[in-house]
Amino acid sequence: MVWRGGSDGAFQEFEVPRYASQTVLDVVTHIQRALDPTLAYRYACRVGMCGTCAMTVNGVARWTCRTHIDKVAKDGALEIAPLRNLPVIRDLVTDMGEFFDKWAKARGCFEGTATRKDDFAKVTPESPGRVQVDAAIECIGCGVCYASCDVVTWNPDYLGPAALNRAWTLVNDTRDLANAKRLRAVAGDAGCHACHTHVSCTERCPKHISPTAGIAGLKRAVVKAALRGEL
Ligand code: SF4
Ligand code: SF4
Ligand code: FES
Repeated sequence: MVWRGGSDGAFQEFEVPRYASQTVLDVVTHIQRALDPTLAYRYACRVGMCGTCAMTVNGVARWTCRTHIDKVAKDGALEIAPLRNLPVIRDLVTDMGEFFDKWAKARGCFEGTATRKDDFAKVTPESPGRVQVDAAIECIGCGVCYASCDVVTWNPDYLGPAALNRAWTLVNDTRDLANAKRLRAVAGDAGCHACHTHVSCTERCPKHISPTAGIAGLKRAVVKAALRGEL
């Protein structure tokens, strides 16, 4: 069963031949190439690097290119839908605009002052800030965590796990100078304190990142900055 249409669409049934090592993305591609060329979906790398192929498979957000049918099919059947918590453009394609707008709202851009005339800043692998975000910097912005977070469903203004994870990487970046502004940006009602620590983001992230841990770090950093009178 594959979702067709916009958010008011419906599931449509297709029969697809099975073969060894077949992925969910292979199934969607077969449908589009052999059964219905109007099916809209998105992918790029097919090897778990770009994050564009994320969809909801039997109720769980996943990278479809790295999900084998044998792992997820129930009685030989699959239900493939667009990512949750995002507007559906058509079929399996969601609008990622608000997802990335929230990265900007969380001040997810590096803000430094060095010029090309300055020497390279040195961040050693063993420095505490670098160790703290060792996993978090590997985020590829796929939206799986965002689609898995119930707080985003309840409060669409919530910045969400990916944007907050990004803010956490910058809070630990000794070259970045915007931390007071960034901590103010993530301290509001829709920021880190809205997280209920449900951990679905961490359980589902295909890169084994823990946005939950980063959000807990942000909560501590916000409290410390408030006590210092910096917020
Ligand atoms: S934290 Fe993980 S699940 Fe979330 S956007 Fe980054 S890579 Fe995807
Ligand atoms: S830990 Fe926080 S951000 Fe992650 S899914 Fe739960 S509520 Fe959402
Ligand atoms: S197509 Fe790039 S991660 Fe799946």
